[in-house]
Amino acid sequence: MDASDWNARYLAQPDVWGTTPAARIVSEVTSAEDAGLSVGTAIDLACGDGRHARWLAAHGWRVQAVDFSEVAIEQARAKDSDDGRSGSVEWVVGDATTWAPSDPVDLVVIGFLHLRLDTLARVLGDVGGWLRPGGHLVYLGHAAENLSRGVGGPQDPTVLPGIADLARGAEGLEVVSLRHDLRPAGKATAVDVLLHARSWVRR
Ligand SMILES: C[S@@+](CC[C@H](N)C(=O)[O-])C[C@H]1O[C@@H](n2cnc3c(N)ncnc32)[C@H](O)[C@@H]1O
Repeated sequence: MDASDWNARYLAQPDVWGTTPAARIVSEVTSAEDAGLSVGTAIDLACGDGRHARWLAAHGWRVQAVDFSEVAIEQARAKDSDDGRSGSVEWVVGDATTWAPSDPVDLVVIGFLHLRLDTLARVLGDVGGWLRPGGHLVYLGHAAENLSRGVGGPQDPTVLPGIADLARGAEGLEVVSLRHDLRPAGKATAVDVLLHARSWVRR
């Protein structure tokens, strides 16, 4: 789907992802903080209408949230001002395959960004280069195995990563966790795939 397809989807169905952040993203960020990651600067890449960016900001992170859908970013900005918390998130219209921050960051979260698998691995590699030493990357997406064993998500196998695709994206980083993650979806189960990695530090 290109940006205009996503614009149409957000116009047709505002609040499509709800306001609650994905539990796995919350638990990975929280465990990184418990393990010593200081709250600082974060990027929510492919932020949609901003459920993860807003959650991070509420926990003290200074967030840049990037999506190539202008409509999603407009809806995110509107929610930000509804919250009366304007200013804690900088909303940016940008393409995840080309955009880059001007300074290194402490954390990047990516929720359900699905790209051709070579492109995804390349983007994850680029994102690894945005991290400060000890900075964390959390990617959560629908897994390739979701097609046969799960529900929901894109039905196009060329954009559904398996473990090996995310491993390629994590080259050069210290892998904290790389695994499937089963998520209740109504009466069924969705199969997600998680990469949590960090940039190496001298120990
Ligand atoms: C399934 S939604 C997830 C939104 C959000 N991360 C969440 O979990 O609520 C996927 C998002 O990826 C965005 N997206 C897809 N390809 C993109 C690209 N190349 N650059 C930036 N955003 C992209 C879409 O516009 C959409 O908002």
